[in-house]
Amino acid sequence: MRENEPDIKYLFEPRAVAVVGASHDPKKIGYKILDNIISGGYPGKVYPVNPRGGEILGLRGYRDVNEIEEEIDVASIVVPAPLVFDAVKRCGEKGVKFVSIITSGFSEVGNREEENRIVACARDHHMRVLGPNIFGVFSAPCSLNATFGPKNVRSGNIAIITQSGALGIAMIGKTKVENMGLSAIVSVGNKSDINETDLLEYLLHQDLTRVIMIYIEGLKAGERFVNVLQRTAKQKPVVVVKAGRSKRGAMAAASHTGALAGSDEIFDYLMKQSLALRAESLNEALEWCKFFANTPIPSKDNTVIVTNGGGIGVLATDACEKYGVGLYDDYLTLKETFSGMMPSFGSTKNPIDLTGEATPDLYEGAFKASLEGESIHAVIALYCETAVFDIRTFTPMIEAYYRKFLEAKKPIVFCLVGGQQTEDAVDDLRKHDVPVFTDPYEAVSCMGALYTYVHHRRSHSGSVISISVDTASMEAIIEKAKKEKRRFLLAHEGQGVMKAAGISIPRSHVARGLDQAVQYAEEIGYPLVMKIVSKDILHKSDVGGVALNLVNRKEVIEAYEAILHRCRTAFPDAKVDGIEVTEMVHGGTELIVGARIDPSFGPIVMCGLGGIYVEVMKDVSFRALPLSLREAITMIKEIRSYPLLLGVRGEKRKDIDGLVETILKVGEILQTCRSISDIEINPLVVDVEGVKAVDVRILLSP
Ligand code: ACO
Repeated sequence: MRENEPDIKYLFEPRAVAVVGASHDPKKIGYKILDNIISGGYPGKVYPVNPRGGEILGLRGYRDVNEIEEEIDVASIVVPAPLVFDAVKRCGEKGVKFVSIITSGFSEVGNREEENRIVACARDHHMRVLGPNIFGVFSAPCSLNATFGPKNVRSGNIAIITQSGALGIAMIGKTKVENMGLSAIVSVGNKSDINETDLLEYLLHQDLTRVIMIYIEGLKAGERFVNVLQRTAKQKPVVVVKAGRSKRGAMAAASHTGALAGSDEIFDYLMKQSLALRAESLNEALEWCKFFANTPIPSKDNTVIVTNGGGIGVLATDACEKYGVGLYDDYLTLKETFSGMMPSFGSTKNPIDLTGEATPDLYEGAFKASLEGESIHAVIALYCETAVFDIRTFTPMIEAYYRKFLEAKKPIVFCLVGGQQTEDAVDDLRKHDVPVFTDPYEAVSCMGALYTYVHHRRSHSGSVISISVDTASMEAIIEKAKKEKRRFLLAHEGQGVMKAAGISIPRSHVARGLDQAVQYAEEIGYPLVMKIVSKDILHKSDVGGVALNLVNRKEVIEAYEAILHRCRTAFPDAKVDGIEVTEMVHGGTELIVGARIDPSFGPIVMCGLGGIYVEVMKDVSFRALPLSLREAITMIKEIRSYPLLLGVRGEKRKDIDGLVETILKVGEILQTCRSISDIEINPLVVDVEGVKAVDVRILLSP
């Protein structure tokens, strides 16, 4: 929070509100918002502001916000775009704490200048801006519906933050149909000032909110978002839906909100790091939220599937593997628990298959046994319609057992598949808040999200360990490049940075003549690599400026002359500083380790399979900085090539500890030398003995 900034609490729990642009015309948005505030039962004072004065919805209309005597915590601004700046300025003069700008027509259509002017004016008055381009705020703790969405929003324990206003309004309607109660729903629109992170900071501590859902298109200050999200997601589940997964979608998102959509792949990793739950679709996110809002946290991981159909049981088993739901596999206990109520041809192996002969009585027996079984912690109950079964007798039993499971703090989900009667039963049960689905994957996805959250709560993300690097030496190298007006470091400068960070590099010297090259070659030993050193020749291999695998003195002499000849032919005017003679690192696994300042996510670090196949294999993993030791290890384990590091076919384990240390050091370089924007080590050769940064590229911020 900046100095003199108002507490975000007053955006959600204002003591008095104004509507600037409250209209006399019932068809206008300015009228609807005022109407929603009044009919929503907001207990504080409400002040319509309209230059025509008069009376609106039975309240006195103030010609100017400054005519109001009472302090105003939130002013909704609902005047056309050209009038917004002036309205905001008047609110600032009045000492309003928050303006919620509903009006469209700013950065989302390219009018960024006016948006910036409004925010600057608000800042001058220590006032904060929500929006513009939003539908407003609903906040249950003070029954405030300052939106132009539906009336009578159902109060509850789910908070929604949405970047899209239209989707937000639609979600108010949808949550109502689905019997879901909201503790808050806020649209952030263009996020000119207040963003998701500011809102999370309030919702994290707000007792009414049990689960938070965020619809997001693009991030602007990812560093802080990841940090606050991490803290929030430890306390309560945070479900994130991000639009812009596809390239076209990302472009559409960027133009929709004026925000950078950011690489979806990186976003995915950062959500994992933040312990947030990323849903595939809006429906999935809402189902998870509804489940979280009503379901107890299981004490442990043993889940059983109860079914009357083998096929649906197999589908659910597949889904359990996909979503990380642990199926109980103590077959003796399962047999003891369930064999009493089973036809002789049923199965007590998990899935518990009651067979097509299952009756409501058999299900009841299985539910009762699961409820009482101490080693069973969650249940997925499946049903396929059969002629021997009247679903109407089953529905009340499902509801009764659902409540019993709630009391016993054991989560249960149901999946019923069949014709009209079954569909009617599903509708009926959903109206009574029972988590019931018509597809086993949907049911298991909810259970999976719950278990992911449970595992996150139990896990420790680990503390960030301090790594020391020789910053002064690095800064000296960077200063030299800056003086020469370069935005990149030369190869030997990159190696200098590695040395200063304590990252091993191949033995290497720059020879200024043939004799020196031979002398260095003898000192280092064979095989060797030789490379041209010239700031005028960037792509050395393309012009024959690199010679690999030189195994004796004769080859060194020939390579020296050939490199010089080829480079002078291709670049006659290039200034050549010498020829680098370097130990050739062979064997080991080639990895890539990098770090950069991402425009959306802030400082991030990356590791993966390196060498020339980086682009093809795309086997990389990302994290936001700062990074804990545990996260660095998780990153490495996430890449598909991890088994190569463990050693295959009798190979020894590679120096994974050295790799972890390198990732942490690269992160530290980026964090301590803020003039560096990109670091890439490729390849970083990791073998049994240690790691070596063979090729290093470093870019400086503009
Ligand atoms: N201070 C206070 N009130 C004023 C001022 C002022 N300086 N100037 C004018 N007004 C009054 C007007 O007199 C009028 O009241 P009246 O109807 O009683 O005469 C009222 O403010 C509204 O002004 P209008 O000029 O009638 O503006 P209108 O209501 O047509 O449009 C609006 C204003 C709704 C803000 C419009 O410009 C706009 O941006 N619409 C899009 C809103 C939107 O979609 N936002 C994104 C939401 S999310 C989503 O996508 C759904």
